[in-house]
Amino acid sequence: MRKVKVTVPASTTNIGCGFDCLGLALSLYNTIEIELTEEEGVFIEIEGEGKELIPDDSSNIIFPAIKLVFERMKKKLQGIKIKEVNCIPLEKGLGSSGATRVGGIVAANYLLHANLSPKEILKMVTLLEGHPDNAAASLIGGLVAVTKSQGEPVWVKLSIPCNLKVVVVLPEIRIPTSKARKILPEKISFSDAVFNLSRLAVLVSSLSYGIWENLPLATQDRLHQPYRSSLLPGMNKIFEAALDTGAKGVFLSSAGSGIAAFSFEKEARKVGEAMQKVFFEEGIKAEVLVLSVDQEGCRVKEEEQ
Ligand code: HSE
Repeated sequence: MRKVKVTVPASTTNIGCGFDCLGLALSLYNTIEIELTEEEGVFIEIEGEGKELIPDDSSNIIFPAIKLVFERMKKKLQGIKIKEVNCIPLEKGLGSSGATRVGGIVAANYLLHANLSPKEILKMVTLLEGHPDNAAASLIGGLVAVTKSQGEPVWVKLSIPCNLKVVVVLPEIRIPTSKARKILPEKISFSDAVFNLSRLAVLVSSLSYGIWENLPLATQDRLHQPYRSSLLPGMNKIFEAALDTGAKGVFLSSAGSGIAAFSFEKEARKVGEAMQKVFFEEGIKAEVLVLSVDQEGCRVKEEEQ
């Protein structure tokens, strides 16, 4: 039976003002190996992050993702062996669910010779995720601007100079995306919409051209971070600590709980430690990762057996 291994990057999204429409792939990876078996059943082995939380049966979120490809190809899924090796933490704002779903669909696409286009893959993942930003970054790599219309995703991959580091501080707290979305208001004011739109325009162009001095302002947000700060003690103080130590912009990573800051390499450790210190002062343990932008997105290594 054929076997495939895919490597999928983590992602940080929103980047402050770009709620649900900006994603950035990061150099932290899950790998997923899939093999179709003669023996009937679903056999899942998990290693690494979330091992104790992730189900190892058909209730694992990878299974419906894989099934979508089988259904598309009108093939019966008889037996499957899946091995997940996870480095992306769960519910900390680095897109672990998006990466898992992207990996499952990309792997099944290869195994079944389904020839799904990136657009079809992203459409399937978005159907399962609800929002396309994490999945777009994990699938395509780099900085991705994405939207959807009647379920159809539309994206543009933007260039971003590769010397920028993304410092991520990950507290021990987990925030499920569903909880972080429920806390958002149904309506926002016109002035808050304009606040975000104007920053988004400056953010995207400044990231593409490498105009770093604009980023502290351009990453500001009024649509989600002010509401989500109630779930994350110390968030605003962490933002201040990052900017005071030279970060080029700081924001809640996706829906949290992680906080991410742009920085040059030489300041990255200092920025991370300053953010971590505030979490410690709030009585919360936290770890720091200094990551780069992943430019490639999800990749496949096919293994014939
Ligand atoms: N854009 C989404 C949100 C990302 O902020 O809810 C969730 O991973």
